[in-house]
Amino acid sequence: MKIALAADHGGFELKEKVKSYLQTNGHDVIDLGCHTDESTDYPEYGKVCGEAVMQGNAERGIVICGTGIGISIAANKVKGIRCALCTSLIMAEMSRKHNNSNIIALGGRILEHDVALSIVEVWLNTEFEGGRHQRRVDLLDRM
Ligand code: RB5
Repeated sequence: MKIALAADHGGFELKEKVKSYLQTNGHDVIDLGCHTDESTDYPEYGKVCGEAVMQGNAERGIVICGTGIGISIAANKVKGIRCALCTSLIMAEMSRKHNNSNIIALGGRILEHDVALSIVEVWLNTEFEGGRHQRRVDLLDRM
């Protein structure tokens, strides 16, 4: 799968681990930065990742900042993006099954990094259930 990745300095270290996990597992990664742990601004990175997904440059996106909160808010400003901030496996699974999340947000400073990789794995391998959830997702997309 083609996946866009973006992080601020608070998510940089985890982004590098997620990138190598994805590449090892055969995914095509578009790394939208940041590229060092120097202080930077999460709104820019959430926005570019959202745009990459909506423009079709990537099928899905993963955004990371210190908590995941700021960058998830930024990604969700892009129309059509359903970015889910996930701190557990069940959140990742449900965000796909019920919300058809197209971006996941992670907190590089609050998640154990091996847990974060498991969250990514579950998220990538869970399909949207459609059915009654489709109408609600359509409502979101019309907002
Ligand atoms: C940066 O210090 C930090 O505020 C940012 O990474 C993120 O946690 C914001 O939500």
